[in-house]
Amino acid sequence: MRIDVVSIFPSFFDVLEVSLLGRARGNGLLDIRVHDLRDHTHDRHRTVDDTPYGGGAGMVMKPEPWGEAIDAIAADADDPVFIFPSPAGEVFTQATARELAQERHLVFGCGRYEGIDERVFSYAATRGRVRLMSLGDYVLNGGEVAAMAMIEAVGRLVPGVVGNPESLVEESHEAGLLEYPSYTKPASWRGYDVPDVLLSGHHGRVSQWRHDQQVERTRERRPDLLAD
Ligand code: ADE
Repeated sequence: MRIDVVSIFPSFFDVLEVSLLGRARGNGLLDIRVHDLRDHTHDRHRTVDDTPYGGGAGMVMKPEPWGEAIDAIAADADDPVFIFPSPAGEVFTQATARELAQERHLVFGCGRYEGIDERVFSYAATRGRVRLMSLGDYVLNGGEVAAMAMIEAVGRLVPGVVGNPESLVEESHEAGLLEYPSYTKPASWRGYDVPDVLLSGHHGRVSQWRHDQQVERTRERRPDLLAD
């Protein structure tokens, strides 16, 4: 999978060189290219923002550098999906991650300030599919942290990125439930014991217990998931 990222803080994405995603880049499973939006400015101050029409607080990202950045990427794109992280977007979930993991080419456009001039989304839609995506109902300073989270959530679902694909099956949100609790050795630690059923060696009872735990936890912590 190819992933392009456009940001005024390209060094934010240096961490993509470590851990599982770093290895996936090294062995060619993920082709991640990070671009500096300011490379598409032409003034001495490399300006990317301006005051909002209609007034109001804060600054808005100018369309011109975004237009050039989109053109440069679209020039050799492969049926891209443009993703603009935004608190005003649709909520990104595990289902979204699964859907995006099927794509060949994702482009993340990271906005700062009060956002990006709205016309940029219309223009991007002439060069690929466009989705505005929110991590959740809170506001970050910009799209970078959100893009990082989405890249990790999607990247780990690309076949081969996570060594043991079974570990992707029994995790939170895969079946619409939270994950069951996990334990390892020792069986007793500081007065806390591992539940007996897990030491029983009885696969049927272990599976039943784990499922019951998933339902119980979900009911307690995320009743909204059960309502769905
Ligand atoms: N940018 C700012 N806040 C955001 C959020 N909650 N999700 C995605 N992008 C954002």
